Amino acid sequence: MNKPIQFTLNGKSVSRTVPNHRLLLDLLRDEIGMTGTKEGCGTGDCGACTVSVNGKPVNSCLILSGELDGADITTIEGLKIGPELHPIQQAFVQDGGAQCGYCTPGMLMMSKALLDGNKNPTDEEIRYALSGNLCRCTGYAKIVQAVKDAAAIMRK
Ligand code: FES
Ligand code: FES
Repeated sequence: MNKPIQFTLNGKSVSRTVPNHRLLLDLLRDEIGMTGTKEGCGTGDCGACTVSVNGKPVNSCLILSGELDGADITTIEGLKIGPELHPIQQAFVQDGGAQCGYCTPGMLMMSKALLDGNKNPTDEEIRYALSGNLCRCTGYAKIVQAVKDAAAIMRK
């Protein structure tokens, strides 16, 4: 059954009529053209599809569009601050936190959620927060370093 929904996406109001069962991931990528959010596993195991819904990081491959009426959604496309890269994005670039970049949008969205609640996380806290985000290229040392460096920039 189709359902009209209205939500905020990266600060802008969006209205769509969607099949109730359409996944948020597919809505974002296939209907709206926000292809920054990636599909890895499609089963909630890899974190590549992480977006923020009402301030919380979620796997968009597990969220039904019909649940999104009134939601406030942020994707990787909304992470920049005006024309500037977000400090977490800057730190990933500087520290080599991405190779193919496939996992990177999900890593960035999860890191943002961590740093919103914890301004000075330990390595252990960063690794725990990112434990649901899998990377097959970079290894995790550079990613952890990037999150620490971003935290330091954001504390200034
Ligand atoms: S694609 Fe959603 S968790 Fe892997
Ligand atoms: S940078 Fe390629 S999967 Fe993480």
